[in-house]
Amino acid sequence: MKIIKTEFLIKVFLCLSVSSSMFASESLKEAFSEHFLMGTIWHGHDVNGKKNTFLEKEKEITLREFNSITAENVMKPHYIQPKKGKFKFKAADEMVNFATKNNLTIVGHTLVWKNSAPDWFFQDRNGNQVSREVLIERVKTHIQTVVSRYKGKIAYWDVVNEAIETKWNPRTQSYDAFYKPCPWLDIIGPEYIEISYKAAQDADPDAKLLYNDYNLDQKAKLDFALNMIRDFKERGVPIYGLGYQAHLFLREPTLPEMERVLKKSADLKIPVHITELDVSVLPNAWKYRTASVEEQYDLASKLNPYQENIPTDVLLEQSRRYKDVFKLFLDYHDTVERVTFWGVWDGNSWRDYKPMSGRTDYPLLISRSFEKKMAYDQVLSITE
Ligand code: XIL
Repeated sequence: MKIIKTEFLIKVFLCLSVSSSMFASESLKEAFSEHFLMGTIWHGHDVNGKKNTFLEKEKEITLREFNSITAENVMKPHYIQPKKGKFKFKAADEMVNFATKNNLTIVGHTLVWKNSAPDWFFQDRNGNQVSREVLIERVKTHIQTVVSRYKGKIAYWDVVNEAIETKWNPRTQSYDAFYKPCPWLDIIGPEYIEISYKAAQDADPDAKLLYNDYNLDQKAKLDFALNMIRDFKERGVPIYGLGYQAHLFLREPTLPEMERVLKKSADLKIPVHITELDVSVLPNAWKYRTASVEEQYDLASKLNPYQENIPTDVLLEQSRRYKDVFKLFLDYHDTVERVTFWGVWDGNSWRDYKPMSGRTDYPLLISRSFEKKMAYDQVLSITE
C-alpha cells in the first residue's frame, strides 16, 4: 500500500514538473509541423504609436517558434498608401525581406478594411464623394500595386477584412447578419468584395486569398460568411478560404461554438486559417464579445485587475483553455491549415490598448519576461 502511494506521488510530481525542455519537440513549429503552419505577427518598429524596442527579441522568438508571419499593421492601406499614389513600402519590405530570408510563409494583411481606409479613397479634390467608377479604379490600383510588389513572396492574402456585421433582432430573438456599412458598400455596393478578390488574383494568380473576420463563432455571422464564400466559389470569384480571427476569452466563445466554425467549413470543403489567436485573461471590455477596433472606451480599473501581477490560477486556467482549443484544431487538422497568434509575447499585445488603453493583459504563450508560460507547455504537450 505504501509503495503504491509513493509511486502515485512520484507520478503526480512528474506530471506537475513537466516543462517544455522535457518535450521531444523543441518548438511550436516543430510540434505541429505535420498538422498546420504556426504563425505569429510582425509588430514592426512601431507599436501603438510608440517605438518598439523589442523587435530584435521578437525576431529571435519568431525564428525559434514559428514558420509563418503576418503583418500586424505595416501592410494596411493607411500605412502603405496614406495619400493617393504615395505608396510607402519601406516597413512592409523590411518584413518581407526578413521572412523571405528565413523561409517563413508570409501572410499579407490586409487590402480592404473599413478601419484602415484613408479618407482620400472616397473623396475627390474638393472633398466630394467620388463616383462608383472612380472608387473601383482606386481599389483596383491599390490592390494591383501592393499585391504585385510581393508577387511570388506572399503565400496568403487577407484580401477583405471584417466586411460582415451582426445585430440583435428582438423580433426573431436572434442575430441578423449583413454586409457592414462602409464607404465601399455605400458607393460600390456589395460587389466591392468580389472586385477586390479578382484584382488580387490578377496581380498574383498563385497567392491564396482569404476572407478574414472576428466573431465567426456566432452562428449568423458564420453562415453569412460561408454563404458568401460558397457563392464566390460557385461563380468563379477567386477566394480560397476563411480566416477565423479567434480573439478569445477564458470562457468565451465556448468550444462547441468554435467547433461549429471548423465543422461547417469542413463540410463545405473550405480551408480555415486561424489568423489572430489570443486568449485574453481580462474581463471583456467590449459590448458584445467582439474584436472590433471601432469601439474605444476609457480605462476602467475593474476591467484591469492584473496590472501588478497575474495570479497562478488564472495562468493555469488560461493554459487549460489553450490546450482545449489546440485539441480542437488538431481534431480538424484536415481543414485548419494555419494557426497564427496575434502577437509574439505578452508585452506588445494589442489587447493592452484595444478597446481600452492602459490595461495589462497576458494573452499569448510567451510571458512579459520572455519565458515560456504554462500555456506554452500545455500546447506543446498535446502532440507528444
Ligand atoms: C490591430 C493591431 O493589432 C493594432 O496594433 C492596431 O492598432 C489595430 O489593429 N482584427 C484585425 C487586426 O484584423 O488587423 C487588428 O489589429 C485586430 C483585430
